[in-house]
Amino acid sequence: MKTYNLTTFGCQMNEHDSERMKGMLDSLGYRETPSREQADLILFNTCSIRESADNRFIGHLGEAKRLKTEDPSRIVGVGGCWSQSMKERVFEQFPFVDVAFGPGQIPRLAEFLTSDSLSAQGYFEFESFPGHLPMKRAREFQAWVQVSVGCNCRCAYCIVPSTRGREVSRGAEDVIAEIERVAADGVREVTLLGQNVNSYGRDLPRGSKCTFAELLAMVDAVEGIDRIRYTSPHPKDMREDVVRAHAQLPSLCEHIHLPLQAGSSRILKAMKRTYDRGRYLDRVALIRELVPDCSLTTDIIVGFPGETEAEFAETLEVVEQVRYDSAFTFIFSPRRGTAAADYPDQLPHAVKRERMERLVEAVQRIAAERAQRFVGRTMEVLVEGPSRTDPARVRGRTRHNKAVNFVGSAAPGEFTHVEIESATSQTLAGSARVATPVG
Ligand code: SAH
Ligand code: SF4
Ligand code: F3S
Repeated sequence: MKTYNLTTFGCQMNEHDSERMKGMLDSLGYRETPSREQADLILFNTCSIRESADNRFIGHLGEAKRLKTEDPSRIVGVGGCWSQSMKERVFEQFPFVDVAFGPGQIPRLAEFLTSDSLSAQGYFEFESFPGHLPMKRAREFQAWVQVSVGCNCRCAYCIVPSTRGREVSRGAEDVIAEIERVAADGVREVTLLGQNVNSYGRDLPRGSKCTFAELLAMVDAVEGIDRIRYTSPHPKDMREDVVRAHAQLPSLCEHIHLPLQAGSSRILKAMKRTYDRGRYLDRVALIRELVPDCSLTTDIIVGFPGETEAEFAETLEVVEQVRYDSAFTFIFSPRRGTAAADYPDQLPHAVKRERMERLVEAVQRIAAERAQRFVGRTMEVLVEGPSRTDPARVRGRTRHNKAVNFVGSAAPGEFTHVEIESATSQTLAGSARVATPVG
């Protein structure tokens, strides 16, 4: 039996694509091995979102080259966004790579592996849902479900539209059928995935049109699914119906990830985000009004070309005003083929670093303060397994997407109620209130 080793970089889309790759390889008779040295097939599912992602991956690829030199019968395969953004140049720069393919061409890996001649080939031509492929889920009680691929936005910093192509929505029946299947298999929580989930359905054919809010209601109705999450919404398309759904649908969690990127309207315009600070804050006000206890998280970029100190200060102001429960913060990284990479007024690294430090300080301070509102409350927790730091404790997650470590006995996949005793910016701690599962 042949073996494979797959390393995944990047976002949840890639994690999910890797589940499809693994399912496909299993069905071809391959067996997964944790050791790259022992693998007949060394695979990478790559990301190119920032330069640091590229660099990390190139280090791993160096090891694959060494292993391939030791045993030339090994196959080295590179999928994902880095691969798509490089296309044929993958083979020019890394001639030991046997097969390269983009995120929409995962099924082609099977074609390649089962063909008679395994001479180097790349597959970058078209996009399609690998929804028909078998899947090997990474998590037993939680599942990612793709609702759309690609992105029609043109954010000036972002490589994703060129790696994942134009936006294509998956038919609602197809999405629901998959969710019913995973629910029957014991999944309690689904995360709907798309680059801009709020524009879901606009491209579906007449007669099968469906808005994202309608899709959420359909998912909520699926028996056995107790929690629904989604990522990411785009503030420009975040409508009242979706916000209202958080108040109305029992399964839809009290958490919205609403990427800000920058607090200055001028920078947002240069980023081509198509909303300004005012509109973003309006969306936040609507969320606070309709779903008062909702967790809000975000993505922020510092050091976008031309960002002045005063404009950066506007980002800090929005952070102080919105009071996020947590935020992913990134230093602007120029990406090949994107508009912002060619903007003339790139900032020195030291300036970006220093702004990042100030931003992280604010984000962490506010996250820690926000988390205190949970102390003394009893929260529903979906149990994931033993705590990573203290095996005597159990780890789980609240509907607000806060990680919780608690004293008690509960099996993965169970819902339990935990009384929260303390909170930091990252995690909550407490004790199980009831011994029996409540979900
Ligand atoms: N589709 C999602 C984002 C995908 S990328 C959305 O629009 O919300 C995840 C995050 O990476 C982005 O929100 C952005 O904050 C960050 N990012 C993307 N390109 C970047 C770049 N060139 N430099 C720094 N951060 C970047
Ligand atoms: Fe990138 Fe913007 Fe599309 Fe998100 S919405 S994937 S940031 S282009
Ligand atoms: Fe995701 Fe990275 Fe591609 S963040 S969409 S894997 S560039």
